[in-house]
Amino acid sequence: MKQHHLKLNENNSTILFLFSGTGNSLNAAIRIQENIENCEILSIPEVLEEKKITYEAAKIGFIFPVHFLDAPNIVREFLKNIKITGNSYVFAVATSGGEIGKTFQTINKLLDLQNRKLHSEFSLVLPSNSIIMEDRSSTPEVVDRLIKNSEVRINEIIKIITNNEIEKFIPTRVSFKNRFGSLMGRIFLYGIFNDRRFKVDKEKCIRCGTCVSVCPMNNIEIVDDKVTYNHNCEVCLACIHWCPRNAIEHFNTRGIPRYHHPNIKVKHMRDYKSKS
Ligand SMILES: Cc1cc2nc3c(=O)[nH]c(=O)nc-3n(C[C@H](O)[C@H](O)[C@H](O)COP(=O)(O)O)c2cc1C
Ligand code: SF4
Ligand code: SF4
Repeated sequence: MKQHHLKLNENNSTILFLFSGTGNSLNAAIRIQENIENCEILSIPEVLEEKKITYEAAKIGFIFPVHFLDAPNIVREFLKNIKITGNSYVFAVATSGGEIGKTFQTINKLLDLQNRKLHSEFSLVLPSNSIIMEDRSSTPEVVDRLIKNSEVRINEIIKIITNNEIEKFIPTRVSFKNRFGSLMGRIFLYGIFNDRRFKVDKEKCIRCGTCVSVCPMNNIEIVDDKVTYNHNCEVCLACIHWCPRNAIEHFNTRGIPRYHHPNIKVKHMRDYKSKS
């Protein structure tokens, strides 16, 4: 790991641009924020909505889940639409179940459009929330171990960020099966089905509004006493995982245990969305 001698913006601020469905990425962002002075977390969908284009800070981070071996659509859209000005130390934290594919290549390609690249690329392995595909929920023991390991890794990441050091991700080979699965997922889940295959069980649903609160895309409303999806979905699965009644199903999610990061509560999900 090399010491990086960047002449950074003097305001000494840090901006973390965040997208998170089940709190894995949000927990990492909160932990970084707690340990770095003058650090704010901005929700990527909210920033896109606001249409503020230019951002300047000494450190700029992008924190998000890996979707289909790549950065989520919304993160890519966001990077095409914002401009970073001044000298910043730029990093990304990609949280995933362990296979990140071309995530950092994509981020670097988009940053290259503004003559930048990531100084540091952090992969953070956590329990996978992708229960609609073949990843099934981990056992409580595995979840516990992954969370503990991730906390150690977050501490390392904080140290590297604090010192503006460089860490590059060394890509690993992704199996054909997983690449094929991800391509299918991208085509069908993002492209064709989106939220149209989400089924809310009217008997189980208690109209508590949790799904509305946690959806990072503000894609859910309760209209005429009925949970309604507005087809602006990033397939982050927050609604499925956070519903206290397991009332929301998609394809083959029936009977599969739900997951969210144990340190993150509905309130955290709601708060981070409305800070920008
Ligand atoms: C649609 C979708 C696709 C996913 N694809 C991958 C993947 O390709 N590789 C992987 O390791 N994890 C994958 N995951 C798991 C998430 O990246 C992982 O659980 C992440 O930490 C979730 O972060 P969040 O809680 O901040 O949303 C996927 C999850 C979803 C919902
Ligand atoms: S979170 Fe579940 S129970 Fe609550 S309103 Fe949404 S679908 Fe209904
Ligand atoms: S509707 Fe559900 S899956 Fe889609 S973006 Fe909102 S919370 Fe995520």
